[in-house]
Amino acid sequence: MENLLNHIIKTNKKYANYGQVASYIPELRKSNAEDLGICIIDKNNKIYCAGDYKTKFTIQSVSKTIILAMALMDNDWSYVFSKVGMEPSGDPFNSIMKLETDDTTKPCNPMINAGAIVTTSLIKGDSLKEKEERMLSFFRKISKNENLNINKAVYESEKLTGDRNRAMAYLLKNDGVIAGDVDEILDLYFKQCSIEVDAVDLARIGLLFANYGVDIETGERVLSESVSRMVKTFMVTCGMYDSSGEFAIKVGIPAKSGVGGGVMASVPKKMGIGVYGPSLDKKGNSIAGIKVLEDLSKQLELSIF
Ligand code: DON
Repeated sequence: MENLLNHIIKTNKKYANYGQVASYIPELRKSNAEDLGICIIDKNNKIYCAGDYKTKFTIQSVSKTIILAMALMDNDWSYVFSKVGMEPSGDPFNSIMKLETDDTTKPCNPMINAGAIVTTSLIKGDSLKEKEERMLSFFRKISKNENLNINKAVYESEKLTGDRNRAMAYLLKNDGVIAGDVDEILDLYFKQCSIEVDAVDLARIGLLFANYGVDIETGERVLSESVSRMVKTFMVTCGMYDSSGEFAIKVGIPAKSGVGGGVMASVPKKMGIGVYGPSLDKKGNSIAGIKVLEDLSKQLELSIF
């Protein structure tokens, strides 16, 4: 397996040249566009890694899957889905357009920014501090990494430049889709996106979703089967935004990308996969990371379809 992973990383590194690191969050410009790494953790808890799997990056939109799981555990599902939809948007991740033009003002799904701001607003806690602590401790638990933390520089950078998210959040508040203090909701959203991980952390979390919420090592049920199923389904239909259809055809694995360059994938009952490659395609997904997953899926016949 390690030989295969090394080979896949080596042959796909060139694709980084066809993309660019995210620049709309200035701090993300500092990443090395040529980095490419992968980690797989299988159902026997075997770990296989190659390339830049130890490099740290911010989780960004991959966090939306975890926050969705938390929102579904903290609230009635019917309440959650009265505020955010279940349909792919077919639009870029940061699009504001459908909030004004659709029949309802609720965002299409929890994977686009507008929908993710809604799920973040549904995280329970008496104060912002308590919500942040609950969030961090959940991320640490499911990644089995007590050292996970917020990258302060990225968080500050997002906060400084996040006016598009701010615009969406105020529109959502105006339409009664989110309630409470908009600045606090956004603060928590910027913080969740700025949690620093590596490919191993993403593989570990991906494995938990792949294993329907049961910790492979301890047998503990961390998430309900239905929540894990729901999150994986959103990963298939909306996880790669307006590339989700093509990704389903070419790779066929539930996956979620982030502009930090991470992709988390969950092969049901088989493995969790974390990929890191910060050079992004035009839709905000890791350009070489997708190629890596495409090759891996073909070689190991991982498509769920
Ligand atoms: O809100 C934003 O724009 C970022 N913090 C997260 C966007 C993101 O990761 C989109 N994914 N590819």
